[in-house]
Amino acid sequence: MATIRDVAELAKVSTATVSRVINSNGYVNDETKKRVKEAIEQLNYLPNDVARSLFKGRSQMIALFVPDITNPFFPELARAVEDVTNQYGYTFVLCNTDNDNDKQMDYLSALQQKSVDGFIMVSSSMTGEHLQHIQVPIVALDRIISPDMSSVTVNNRSGSRQAVQYLKSVGCTRIAHIAGPEHVDNAVYRMRGYLDEVKDEDWFNSSYVVSGAYNFDAARKAAMNLLTRHPEIDGIFAGNDLMGAGVLNAAASLGKKVPDDLAVIGFDGITMGETVTPALTTMAQPIYEIGKSAAEILINQIGTSDSGVVTEEFNVQLIERQSTLRKAETYEQ
Ligand code: RIB
Repeated sequence: MATIRDVAELAKVSTATVSRVINSNGYVNDETKKRVKEAIEQLNYLPNDVARSLFKGRSQMIALFVPDITNPFFPELARAVEDVTNQYGYTFVLCNTDNDNDKQMDYLSALQQKSVDGFIMVSSSMTGEHLQHIQVPIVALDRIISPDMSSVTVNNRSGSRQAVQYLKSVGCTRIAHIAGPEHVDNAVYRMRGYLDEVKDEDWFNSSYVVSGAYNFDAARKAAMNLLTRHPEIDGIFAGNDLMGAGVLNAAASLGKKVPDDLAVIGFDGITMGETVTPALTTMAQPIYEIGKSAAEILINQIGTSDSGVVTEEFNVQLIERQSTLRKAETYEQ
């Protein structure tokens, strides 16, 4: 592994001169600069991260921020982003943020010092204000951060309306909703989609909406409580598949048969939905496509310094499985 000293020796200059060429700071005449760059090429010298990025102006690194790597949705999303960034020669960095602003700011500062070329962020706590000092492109994924920032999302509200319409079509007459966190914009849109479909029903009451915090345990507890207080409920739309799995577990604990006594539909389309019993019907997000799209938008903005705002919205797709089909006759393979 060549060192800066080897480069200096070959180019017949001091290491300080080599450093000035790498860091583009201080005067070096063109002939000397040329000799140094030839020596770097010939020795295949790799300056350290900072020097390399200063020398080339880029680190060839892209970072993805996700709020919860324990939720299977995010590893599936990260897979797509990593595949595309690698295809274009970028190193992919995954940061788990817990939606904590201090943690996100720490990651942003550390990665900027490494001259990261761009960020893809899934965040419901960062705002345009938090990010206005970032000098490289950022694409918001899954959740809108600012109208002035490119984003890739899905049709949360209309997709949720479709979920409730579907529950009605399989015979549900009292439908409840397990909602995601109220500080997450897509959870709010999904709840609004549910309300669009039920608010005018004579059977609806606000206690049919409970929070499941986008996780299995909270959803299980909420569903246990909901179904105990309201045994008349025969359909539940869960705002994501993890919560849908929590509802299935609660129904089993209460001796409710799914789908005969209670039909359940989730949202996301994570692989786990196929493995729970009964398999979970869901409004599937095109997870790989949204990750791929965000990566392509970012790479284009890095390459062209294009600061235009690109907004992509993909459609979710109903995947029918045993948790809603009365006779489980036909479902997505
Ligand atoms: O399951 C995790 C949820 O958080 C998904 O619905 C996804 O849209 C993300 O926002």
